[in-house]
Amino acid sequence: MCYTFSMKLKIVKDTNPIMRKKSQEVPMPLSDEDRKTLDDMLEYLKLSQDEEYASKHNIRSGVGLAAIQIGLLKRMFVVYYQAGEGEYVQYQLVNPKIMETSVRRVALSGGEGCLSVDNDHDGISHRYYKIKMKAFDALTNKDVYITARGYDAIVLQHEYDHLDGIFYYDRIDPKNPKGKLENEELL
Ligand code: NI
Repeated sequence: MCYTFSMKLKIVKDTNPIMRKKSQEVPMPLSDEDRKTLDDMLEYLKLSQDEEYASKHNIRSGVGLAAIQIGLLKRMFVVYYQAGEGEYVQYQLVNPKIMETSVRRVALSGGEGCLSVDNDHDGISHRYYKIKMKAFDALTNKDVYITARGYDAIVLQHEYDHLDGIFYYDRIDPKNPKGKLENEELL
């Protein structure tokens, strides 16, 4: 594969206190600069999933990236991952809002990971099984109303949390790190 991507994004780690700050609403209509940032972030995720590129540049594979993870306190994030044969979930979401959450819960049995977190945090992060999220999607240039379930819902909640300075390990119960909640499904 050949890439024209030359920019090197620097991922901010959770040891940096800026990661705990609340990101700010992005002015609309979206500026060219913000669009460029979102494009760079999406490109970063795609490259991170290319084994050759990732090992060469010593970067980890990720499915989501929030603006704060590159040092920008803006309420926007991107997601990119394969959901099926030739099918990809990809968004560049701006000013997302969670409109509804289910009573049913979900968690990844192996725990979550994050490009900003280098240390291991053993345990399961409790999430809502189903959410409805409203946002502007810069990729399609439309307002979107996303209904997400299971893994898709987990990814959106993980990225959304970054906008409020929350990490996946904040969602692990320290007294019972592997304990399943009532109504919770493990994936
Ligand atoms: Ni993360």
